[in-house]
Amino acid sequence: MSYYIGDIEFKSQLLNASGPKSITHRQLLKLNNTYGLGGIVTKSFTLDYKIGNPSPNYYYNHKTETSINSIGLTNNGAKYYFDFININSYQLTKPLFLSIAEQNHNNLNTIFNEYLKNKVYNIDMLIEYNVSCPNINNTNTSTSNEKIMVGYDIGELRTRLQYIKSLFSNPEYKYIPFGIKLPPYLDRYQLQNVANVINEFSDIIRFITVCNTMGNGCMLDEITCGSKISTTIGGIGGTSLKPIALGNVKLLSGYLKYDIQIIGCGGVKDVRDVYDFMFAGATFVQIGTKLFENPDSSIITKLYKDLISE
Ligand code: DHB
Repeated sequence: MSYYIGDIEFKSQLLNASGPKSITHRQLLKLNNTYGLGGIVTKSFTLDYKIGNPSPNYYYNHKTETSINSIGLTNNGAKYYFDFININSYQLTKPLFLSIAEQNHNNLNTIFNEYLKNKVYNIDMLIEYNVSCPNINNTNTSTSNEKIMVGYDIGELRTRLQYIKSLFSNPEYKYIPFGIKLPPYLDRYQLQNVANVINEFSDIIRFITVCNTMGNGCMLDEITCGSKISTTIGGIGGTSLKPIALGNVKLLSGYLKYDIQIIGCGGVKDVRDVYDFMFAGATFVQIGTKLFENPDSSIITKLYKDLISE
């Protein structure tokens, strides 16, 4: 069975979520070699390398199967991820999503100029533009320059998409199937507004990923009552996020007016979860927290085998 985004074919609807095991070339190659994974999503990257937040910046509660993270956008910079494609294109067997989290217009322009202008890559590639990283402004030291996340700022989201549309309308940049990764929304009015913006950009947005972690969570240690992570506050993922993600997929799929693929993300661990997201309106799913917790990525292969044997 095949699944499509634009004319890109996927052999499985299972994808990794950006973040877990997707930072280094080695990790990305391992994802490429994971049987049952339909496509690879890179760690969200910026133009320049970012070291991220001090450890511990991730914690998993086994009882609730829920995670908190404030990795802090650790990534090796745009060049490293385009180098990955150039070096490995002959052995990449799955479509690759470049998860771009660059929020600065000039830097975004540089990424397009340096790596997409008049360039041809020999693999199927897509862009997942991340407008929902909750961990940019929440280090203990950040103060005055805090800004609302783009995914929660409808005006800024529209401006950003307009800018990206203008880049793609330049014939020097070949169009690459493009989508956005959204934050979880708790208010229907916001969901309708974001769907309206996506409808306005139906010419460039081929998919949406619903959703990122729920920002500004906190988990405390049972004994010390101190925070489980160094930044105190972080994004919540895993089982606790699933009903919210599912509701967001369900509502958005009703509000969207054109043929767009939805990638469900939030607490996927078994066949039931995949079906739930499909019933809500998703075609693909991403696996985040469970992949973090699974050293050899065997969860993906097992889930794929379970799905095809149903
Ligand atoms: C990080 C977390 C996210 O949820 C995201 O979308 C991007 C980056 C991080 O902390 O590294």
